[in-house]
Amino acid sequence: MSFINERTRNLKQGAIRVMFDRAAGLEQVISMGIGEPDLVTPKSVCDAAKEALDLGKTHYTPNAGYVETRRAVAEYSSVKNLNYDPMKEIIITNGGMGGLSLLMATVLNPGDEVLIQDPQWLNYVAQVNYYGGVCVRVPTKADECFEMQPDVVEALITEKTKILIINTPNNPTGYVIRESTLEKLAEIAIRHNLLVVSDEVYNTLLYDDAGSRSIAEFPGMRERTVVVNSLSKAYAMTGWRIGYVAGPAEIIDRMTKCQENFNSCANAQGQYAAIYALKHPELCEEIRKVFERRREIMLHKLAQIPGMVFKRPNGAFYVFASIQNYGVSDTEFCNRLLDEQRVVCIPGSAFGECGSGHIRMAYTTSDENLATGLDRIAAFCESLDA
Ligand SMILES: Cc1ncc(COP(=O)(O)O)c(C=O)c1O
Repeated sequence: MSFINERTRNLKQGAIRVMFDRAAGLEQVISMGIGEPDLVTPKSVCDAAKEALDLGKTHYTPNAGYVETRRAVAEYSSVKNLNYDPMKEIIITNGGMGGLSLLMATVLNPGDEVLIQDPQWLNYVAQVNYYGGVCVRVPTKADECFEMQPDVVEALITEKTKILIINTPNNPTGYVIRESTLEKLAEIAIRHNLLVVSDEVYNTLLYDDAGSRSIAEFPGMRERTVVVNSLSKAYAMTGWRIGYVAGPAEIIDRMTKCQENFNSCANAQGQYAAIYALKHPELCEEIRKVFERRREIMLHKLAQIPGMVFKRPNGAFYVFASIQNYGVSDTEFCNRLLDEQRVVCIPGSAFGECGSGHIRMAYTTSDENLATGLDRIAAFCESLDA
């Protein structure tokens, strides 16, 4: 006998966790699988949380988060130019994921269609399905940097389409959507009355000349965009579980009601740490520079591996490379790479059909580990070629 409901029974373990389970117990594994900074949270941010503890900030906070934290988001975060009202248009959540799940709980009715890029980070699909929505994947092409093409998006819109999810810089591809494309996507959203969810959790990790404009900044978009962000990647704060959502007051109000009933609030000390962090953007610049250096190491080493095909990603901390020249599937490639060379990468097909034939490599490990890991990948590719 089982007490588990249908929806939860259908939740599957994602491919990333599957790879980690395979790696557990193996020795001298180098992981390029994990989507989180290996760096620890800056000490000054930790000190702000310690101070909050010493001051007795150990209680429930308002459901939408402390007013000071919401104010810090409004005044110092990347949405500062949009003049969000901290009392009505911002909520502090349990990480970006907590924000996304409250949002899906708030806006989805059964049967609502949600446009999601293919390939794309896995969790949107699980959340949308859980709340009865229908995921419609937007196919993309490697030679277009896996960017959603506006005409392809528009052709998939039906009378049931409610939401377009945008994630830039992107997980898994590491690419940033060009401003000209964002502009066209904004026009489509307005033309078809869509809500746009803009997941910007990587938007402090930009390289080369990548643009940083949010789709919410385009004319007519503020009222139909919900911006999701968090301190996880920007400040190496994944374990703190502090995120935020900025958007139309009606949506934030209902999300706050969900938060009240589901998880009360985000943790109090983390919210104090967030106030300090948001007021010190130089801390995320230091983190960005570390990843910029690692990106160079990875791209330089990858360029020396015959048969490995990739373009220069300009955001986040991922490289999404084609391994199609080696005559094995992406899943076989990753499984054998782990077994034979003890390196974890994630098969691209885990992120959608259009990702197949690719692998996601995260440069979230030390420079030394990266160099060694890439040497091992080179040796593995050579063995496949032989
Ligand atoms: C695209 C994307 N959005 C959101 C998140 C959620 O991060 P967090 O809940 O730690 O803020 C992640 C984490 O991997 C991600 O890759």
